Amino acid sequence: IPDPPPAGPLLGWYDRHRRTLPWRVYAPPGEARGERDPYRIWLSEVMLQQTTVATVGPRYARFLARFPDVRALAGAPWEEVAAEWAGLGYYARARNLHAAARAVVARGGFPDTEAGLRELPGIGAYTAAAVAAIAFDRPTVPVDGNVERVVSRLLAIREPLPGARRLIAPAAARFMEQKEARARPGDFVQALFDLGATICTPRRPACALCPWRGDCAAQRLGIQETLPVKAPK
Ligand code: ADE
Repeated sequence: IPDPPPAGPLLGWYDRHRRTLPWRVYAPPGEARGERDPYRIWLSEVMLQQTTVATVGPRYARFLARFPDVRALAGAPWEEVAAEWAGLGYYARARNLHAAARAVVARGGFPDTEAGLRELPGIGAYTAAAVAAIAFDRPTVPVDGNVERVVSRLLAIREPLPGARRLIAPAAARFMEQKEARARPGDFVQALFDLGATICTPRRPACALCPWRGDCAAQRLGIQETLPVKAPK
């Protein structure tokens, strides 16, 4: 696997362009970096797995008004959690959220490592890495669709998904070998999400605005719009 590009330009871009999202308290560039409450980060990541950023915004605020912390969620009857989840779909996620809240309260708080988070009901590799990085600044890179697209383009990985994940995941993890990324893991992973959502988009990526424009193998080859390749179903 080739070396990933330097983290510094992406972090600088994020400091200038970070989106103000409900689960990101505003933080001035270079200063304390916003939301760290693992409950709030976890809730946002679970909601964002099945629902767009635009829809999650108001529902996230409403959910937190009803269940402001993990104890409130754990103490609520399932019927009330289900009612608050109405319209968000995939009730299994709400069931797992509720079960995990009870597990967190039973063990006296959130685990603060990726491995510890993985043991909670319904928390898979992506969610554990996202919460570990964003809430606890653990040096790990959650791989969602955005990160798959960005990394497959940077490194011109032409193998089709899902098989390409065996190349993409270790390549993404290698960012955390860099000092700049390790200094700000939560910002770095959210910068990757934002880059994928606003610049390195599935169609017509805005390469001229990309902080990695000189570093992208796919752009050099002119194949950025063709990546990632998806295996036919
Ligand atoms: N998609 C998934 N997690 C996200 C986050 N924390 N910020 C923006 N988009 C996301």
